[in-house]
Amino acid sequence: MSSLWIITGTSSGLGKALAIQAASDDDALVYGIARREGPVLPRYVHIHSDLSVAHNLLHLSLPEAGDAARIILVNNAATLGQVAPIGELDEAGIIGSYILNVVAPHVLANKLLRTYRSSEAKKIIINISSGAATTPYDGWSIYSSSKAALNMQTLIGAEEAGIREDAVRFFAVAPGVLDTEMQATVRRSAREQFSRISKFTALFEEGKLADPAKAAAKIIEIAAHPDDYSDTICRLSL
Ligand SMILES: NC(=O)c1ccc[n+]([C@@H]2O[C@H](COP(=O)([O-])OP(=O)(O)OC[C@H]3O[C@@H](n4cnc5c(N)ncnc54)[C@H](OP(=O)(O)O)[C@@H]3O)[C@@H](O)[C@H]2O)c1
Repeated sequence: MSSLWIITGTSSGLGKALAIQAASDDDALVYGIARREGPVLPRYVHIHSDLSVAHNLLHLSLPEAGDAARIILVNNAATLGQVAPIGELDEAGIIGSYILNVVAPHVLANKLLRTYRSSEAKKIIINISSGAATTPYDGWSIYSSSKAALNMQTLIGAEEAGIREDAVRFFAVAPGVLDTEMQATVRRSAREQFSRISKFTALFEEGKLADPAKAAAKIIEIAAHPDDYSDTICRLSL
C-alpha cells in the first residue's frame, strides 16, 4: 500500500467522488466515514459513524498504517447547519453542527498525528473549507463561522509542522460551488432567512455548479504532490 486515505463524508457529493478516485489507485487503501452507505469498491472500507456526536469521535480508532508512504486525512464531512439569523437558531443544532464542522476535523487531525507519530509516512491533512469562511453571509452564522475556525486550525497546524520540521502538510481547500446535496439544501433556504439565495439559485439555473468529480481530481493532485503547493489556504479553480 502506498497511500492510506481517511476521508469523512463519503456517502455523497465531494467526499464520495474523492473516495471513488482515491480507491481507483491499485496501491491505495481508503477508509471513509459517514452515517449512510459509502461506495462499494475494492480497496474501500466504510465506517458508519455520526461525527456530530462527541462520544463517537472519542471512540473512533484509526486503521493500521502498515507500509504506507503517505497517510492522507480529508476532513470533508460538514453541514450547512440551520440557515437563520442568530436569535432564531435551535441551540442543540448549533452545538451538533459545530461538533461536525469544527470539533471532528480537529479531533481527527490530532488523532492522526498522534496515532501515526512513529510512522515515517508523509502525513497530509486536507480540510475542506469554503469561500464562506471569509464572507459573512446572513443566515449562515453556523456554516461560515465553522469554516473560519477550520481555516485557523489549518494555519496553526501548518505553523506547528514548520516549527517542528514534521513530515506533515496541512491544507484548507475551498472547492468552489459544487453540484451536490449541500447546494440543493442551500436552494431550499427561505429568502427571509438568507438574503443571498438568488445568487445560488442563479448559479444552478445557469448550469454553473461544478462537478464534484473535478474538485476531487484536484484534491487528489494536491495529495499526490503536496510540495508543489505552497499555499496552506487555497481555492480550487475548476
Ligand atoms: N457544495 C458546495 O457548493 C460546497 C462549496 C464549498 C464547500 N463545500 C464543502 O465541501 C464538503 C462536502 O460537501 P458536499 O457539497 O459534498 O455536501 P454533501 O453532498 O451534503 O455531503 C456531505 C457529506 O458529509 C456527511 N455528513 C454530514 N453529516 C454527517 C455526520 N453527522 N456524520 C458523518 N458524516 C456526515 C454526509 O454523509 P451522511 O449524511 O451519510 O452522514 C455526506 O457524505 C463540505 O465540507 C462542504 O462544506 C461544498
